[in-house]
Amino acid sequence: MRVLIVDDSKSSLAFLGHVLGSLDGIEIQTCLRPSLGLAAAAAAQFDLVLVDNVMPEMDGVELTRRLRAEPAYRSVPIVMVTSDISPALRLKAVAAGATDFVNKPFDSTELQARVKNLLALRQAQIELADRAAWLAREVESATRHLVDREEEIIWRLARAIEYRDGDTGGHVSRVALISSLIAGALGLSPERCRLIYLAAPLHDIGKIGIPDAVLGKPGKLTAEELTVMRQHVTIGARILEKGSSELVRTAELIAQSHHERWDGTGYPGRIAGTDIPIEARIVAIADVFDALCSERPYKKAWPVEAAYREVASLSGTHFDPACVAAFERMWPEIEAQLVTSDPVRLVS
Ligand code: C2E
Ligand code: SIN
Ligand code: SIN
Ligand code: SIN
Ligand code: FE
Repeated sequence: MRVLIVDDSKSSLAFLGHVLGSLDGIEIQTCLRPSLGLAAAAAAQFDLVLVDNVMPEMDGVELTRRLRAEPAYRSVPIVMVTSDISPALRLKAVAAGATDFVNKPFDSTELQARVKNLLALRQAQIELADRAAWLAREVESATRHLVDREEEIIWRLARAIEYRDGDTGGHVSRVALISSLIAGALGLSPERCRLIYLAAPLHDIGKIGIPDAVLGKPGKLTAEELTVMRQHVTIGARILEKGSSELVRTAELIAQSHHERWDGTGYPGRIAGTDIPIEARIVAIADVFDALCSERPYKKAWPVEAAYREVASLSGTHFDPACVAAFERMWPEIEAQLVTSDPVRLVS
């Protein structure tokens, strides 16, 4: 344990040093001036500080106050050494943060006992803090573990959807990525961007409930088949409904509303404008853009530039103009990420 003694009297310092130096496991540093004491306290962590009261520069009360203001000394025992035992001074010292008092002239046995007790207190403080820090690390790691597992389940579900929908070659992970980039450019908080990133892969989960004959049809869908196909949004919302986590609730919103259109001509609700949840407005753009760039049983892949122009041209009709503007601002980033992004990422 390290003890700092600040006293402007060399003889006091020598005496205190001698009395305390005979205790086991103690390392002592002495300072003749309060300013040097503050500097020493800042340079190293002490476990106990003894301050004289009457000193030039500042008195012990002031020194105590300044030490207490330092986060590293918020709970370190500080003992005031004084020959003034007036209640008024004690009150001031306690208000400044002093832990205890030692009266001059010194009684070495009393001094040693006092210091031992205070160092034991300090030791207990440190052990408690270590334990709290250890617990905090454990909780953080357990939480991290849970979050990783939640993400893993999302990506595995997304993989299942991709199997069902025919190999769409990483469509869901690109939709997730593009959606989170748009969300970031719109100024949504990092937490909401993360929610969108993890919920977007489930936007077409309802396709699980669509018959193969419709889902995998090589050509254009009939009006009847289109009606069946469009049920994927309601089926998806039903699969995800009343989630207990914000992630599942976000995924439900997206599954339900990603085919709504800004002008109110989408499905299933024909809702318009900001009545459409922002998460769904964002994912709608990422979904259509990536569907255009991809080959489907019913269509060829479009060149990326043509898909970009299509999205831009649908601003204000199909899409929220603010979201399209965000997509356009993020374009260099989106283009760069598309080249490097892996198909459906799995947490290992
Ligand atoms: P998807 O293939 O993932 O396409 C998602 C959305 O991207 C479509 O929603 C549509 O808004 C847009 N999109 C895809 N390809 C094109 C295109 O060539 N031109 C234009 N303008 N937009 C395109 P939508 O139309 O509500 O379709 C939802 C899902 O229904 C599609 O998901 C796909 O699985 C299926 N689907 C739609 N039309 C057909 C079709 O003619 N034949 C087949 N077999 N499936 C279709
Ligand atoms: C001194 O030692 O500086 C004076 C005595 C006291 O602190 O009260
Ligand atoms: C946004 O999408 O965040 C902009 C507001 C709006 O037009 O809905
Ligand atoms: C938000 O929900 O933070 C964006 C506002 C909106 O367009 O709904
Ligand atoms: Fe869809």
